[in-house]
Amino acid sequence: MSTVLITGGHSGIGLECVKRLALDSIEHIVLAGRSPDRMKEVANQLRQDHGTKVSILQLDTSSLVSVREAAAQFRSLLKSGDVEPLQAILCNAGGRAFGAVQYSLEGYEETFASNYLGHFLLVHLLIDTLADNGRIVFTASGTHDPDTRDGKAVGPAVEPDAGMLAATGKDGGKPLSAGVRYATAKLCIILFAYELHRRLRKAGSGISSIAFDPGSISETGFLRGLPAPLRMIARSAFAKWMMKRAGITVGSLDLSGASLAKLAIDPAYTHGSGKYFQVNDGSFNEMRSATMSYDEERAARLWRDSKQLVDLKTEDECPLLR
Ligand SMILES: NC(=O)c1ccc[n+]([C@@H]2O[C@H](COP(=O)([O-])OP(=O)(O)OC[C@H]3O[C@@H](n4cnc5c(N)ncnc54)[C@H](OP(=O)(O)O)[C@@H]3O)[C@@H](O)[C@H]2O)c1
Repeated sequence: MSTVLITGGHSGIGLECVKRLALDSIEHIVLAGRSPDRMKEVANQLRQDHGTKVSILQLDTSSLVSVREAAAQFRSLLKSGDVEPLQAILCNAGGRAFGAVQYSLEGYEETFASNYLGHFLLVHLLIDTLADNGRIVFTASGTHDPDTRDGKAVGPAVEPDAGMLAATGKDGGKPLSAGVRYATAKLCIILFAYELHRRLRKAGSGISSIAFDPGSISETGFLRGLPAPLRMIARSAFAKWMMKRAGITVGSLDLSGASLAKLAIDPAYTHGSGKYFQVNDGSFNEMRSATMSYDEERAARLWRDSKQLVDLKTEDECPLLR
């Protein structure tokens, strides 16, 4: 039975993606997230509309304890035969380019923890549950690139130094701004995607690791940190027209959700590993990501420091990735 696990699959781009997967060949979807009622609602809808088997995992990607519990729960489902090896893991949960700094259960800056660090740990704990030709897709964002309009609009990403990003503002100093925290967390996820690709290839694995920018979409929950009148303005046709004119990457719920689903299962993307795909203005293409995202030394440093932050034990580490 073909199975896909997705974080943040009950809303926005993730929800659009799971509907596509259910329409395509995917028979079992594992929704992993922190809003059980919304996940149950979506599960019922998928079962009713498409006859899809749906499992639910309680997961807060900002909490390492929660990531470990979700991974353990998934393994017990696997052991009992309730799920089969995964065709894809979609690391899609995240967001929050607005609002005051917050810290996770473990004391790490929340945007960094929920967009990047939790997924770093989740992938380590679950990669051996993927099929040999399975795929891991990371929902990133065009904001990661400081040389683009997207990057400039939220505030340019800074050095992807895991220790500094996890602790920003904790020493009583001024924390990085919300936009910079978000853009840099997304830069980290792309550096991770590429480093994962290199390590998998070196180990002779057929698993793919792919980075994805859905483009800016105002209809999802992404803008929930903004006051309602601002959200309304952002959703207007005029605001979208302005964004395009300003050179912002613009996605749409339909195309961006469908594109994420394609990256997960479409044979056309069999050779997508180590690459970055973007939705912009009605089209979906492979693109170059930020210059910094290809820096192998930075990626190796980020990997090493992230392992320390999540306290990855040798027994947690898949032999493929050592
Ligand atoms: N919309 C855009 O303009 C845009 C552009 C580029 C990239 N993205 C990225 O696209 C992805 C999907 O966002 P969206 O636009 O579809 O917004 P969305 O509707 O708010 O979806 C975000 C999903 O992530 C989940 N999530 C957030 N923090 C989480 C946590 N700590 N633990 C578990 N789940 C968590 C949310 O769950 P809850 O419902 O429980 O909060 C929600 O299901 C995000 O990674 C976002 O950064 C969005």
